[in-house]
Amino acid sequence: MQIANALFKPVTVGRYTLPNRIIMAPLTRCRSKQPGDIPWALNADYYQQRASAGLIIAEATQISPQGKGYAYTPGIYSAAQIQGWRLVTDAVHGAGGLIFLQLWHVGRISHPDLQPDGALPVAPSAIKAEGEAFTEQGFKPLVTPRALAPDEIPGIIGQYRTAASNALAAGFDGVEIHAANGYLLDQFLRDGSNHRTDAYGGCIENRARLLLEVIEAVVEVMGADKTGVRLSPINAFNSMSDSAPQQHFNYVAEQLNRFGLAYLHIVERMAAGADDDDFDFVALKNQFKGPYIANGGYDAASADAAIAAGRCDLVAFGKLFIANPDLVSRFKTGAALNTPDPDSFYGGTAQGYTDYPTLV
Ligand code: PHB
Repeated sequence: MQIANALFKPVTVGRYTLPNRIIMAPLTRCRSKQPGDIPWALNADYYQQRASAGLIIAEATQISPQGKGYAYTPGIYSAAQIQGWRLVTDAVHGAGGLIFLQLWHVGRISHPDLQPDGALPVAPSAIKAEGEAFTEQGFKPLVTPRALAPDEIPGIIGQYRTAASNALAAGFDGVEIHAANGYLLDQFLRDGSNHRTDAYGGCIENRARLLLEVIEAVVEVMGADKTGVRLSPINAFNSMSDSAPQQHFNYVAEQLNRFGLAYLHIVERMAAGADDDDFDFVALKNQFKGPYIANGGYDAASADAAIAAGRCDLVAFGKLFIANPDLVSRFKTGAALNTPDPDSFYGGTAQGYTDYPTLV
């Protein structure tokens, strides 16, 4: 019995027509080859197993050594990383799938142990987040970051531009700019973490400037119809806060219309973050004239209902895709789902990564 009709209506996302609306969310798994944070055959197997997703958004990937905040996450700045990603994109394409890369700079969510020459992590302002960084020597308290100087901003934008061009060289079908979950671009967007007094801080027009300039640079390389953006207006994860999320993120969503992007991807809720029941995601969606991907705690039934009701156009699934490589066919048939094992989410081997069973 097919339980999910709306999820299986084809949809145009930028340059592509997707056969279903079931998106694999970007998921940090900390399993790149060392040294060098290089994607390899194990990662290619994992993504190939999940190629029936309407679109895979590959895990957050640092755009530079400075953009790294967790041990063993992959990069997209070295020749070896580009070659490694080529294994992944070839495997997914061979299985008939589409795959975007998520471009990531963590900003203050890092540690000198993860930074070139033991440098301080950078951020819009020298404001420390609560929590710990995952280093090769275990968890270490986050540090107070160094505020980026105005003349460093073009270099940050350049890191995104180069990463987009590397993603093309690696065979990706597009990129998602990670402006969510308390990492660098989100640190600029929200006023709890951005206390700058230059053109990149203060009012929301200024706080959104870096994101909009990054999008412009990425779109020049990639094309707008192969570029998406991810935001998380109310996610408190990584010590994030904002004084007026509805007003500020409505503005950001509306500004995105100037580019003609492939999609807007919204983290509506996350297990670790405090929810804001007052936030109106439909109002946010209505600001943006393009496909809206919802993410956070959906199952087949709630995703189908949300699409049918026009509250979103597509839904991204994270934990369910970790545990169910054949999530699309399970949704189609209403089959039972495997249970994800949190102990093997981050780091490790094929166990808890490529060994979840499929139905057939
Ligand atoms: C994480 O590693 O916990 C993580 C990474 C990227 C995100 C969110 C969480 O966007």
